[in-house]
Amino acid sequence: MIDFKVNGLTCTKCGLCAADCPARIIAMEGGSPAIAPEKEALCYKCQHCLAVCPTASVSILGLDPANSLPLTGGLPDAAAMELLIKGRRAVRKYKPENIDAATMAQLLSVASHAPSGRNDRQMRFTVVAERAKLDEIRGEIMGKLVAIAEGSGFPAGMEFFAGFVRQYQSDGIDFVFRGAPHFLVASAPKSVVTPVEDCLIALTSFELYAQTLGIGAVWDGLAKFIISDLLPEFKVRLGIPEDHVIGYAIAFGWPAVQYARTAQREPGTVQYV
Ligand SMILES: Cc1cc2nc3c(=O)[nH]c(=O)nc-3n(C[C@H](O)[C@H](O)[C@H](O)COP(=O)(O)O)c2cc1C
Repeated sequence: MIDFKVNGLTCTKCGLCAADCPARIIAMEGGSPAIAPEKEALCYKCQHCLAVCPTASVSILGLDPANSLPLTGGLPDAAAMELLIKGRRAVRKYKPENIDAATMAQLLSVASHAPSGRNDRQMRFTVVAERAKLDEIRGEIMGKLVAIAEGSGFPAGMEFFAGFVRQYQSDGIDFVFRGAPHFLVASAPKSVVTPVEDCLIALTSFELYAQTLGIGAVWDGLAKFIISDLLPEFKVRLGIPEDHVIGYAIAFGWPAVQYARTAQREPGTVQYV
């Protein structure tokens, strides 16, 4: 079922795979790593055994370790990561062009490597990959928000939308998607152990990696409120399964603004015990 295989010619019997297995199901049978058939169901499918093996001797789930990215010397250094974390900005000005399909696929695929609770891996990205499609949805949402503002008014707790609608009516400001050509919703089945957390971690990975490709993004709380609560018909319109929790949303595209330096924030509150 989990297809755990060890290359007997290259395995040094070091035991690292057994020691690192979080489910503790790899035994050093006669000196070689093995998983008993009755323990296979306990496997997290995390691939730690494949990743930790110094000689690329372990295969699991039919995966060839040669297809993994090598980690030796390849990680960004601390200064590069600091700049990435401090240099990211909420982008609210976008070029009209769509991100090409290959870049979009790469972005979503790398962001999908984010961890999930119990390695459930049920998080789903729902993406509007064409500006023309988002323009259609943008128009429909704005039409409905204007109708609410001019009709019944916004429900309790959402009255702040009225001010945004006035901005839209007076200055044409797209406060929902900030003029972005693309929109992304992360959702996960309510039944998984950490649905919202899985989505937030995936979107955080998405935002940071997007930046390295020169793509701008903005976390989109207003759109999230709209599709989760105010106009839930758009959850259906976007094809998000009924049993999914919406974790959060991000609007993104090629930025029409460039920042020359980082912001300067006070260090966050830290309490040592
Ligand atoms: C959870 C979350 C929701 C947000 N929702 C919106 C939003 O709906 N519209 C918007 O323009 N910016 C939104 N933002 C962006 C924040 O306003 C922005 O991150 C903050 O002002 C700090 O600026 P910076 O991201 O450039 O550092 C959101 C950010 C977060 C983290």
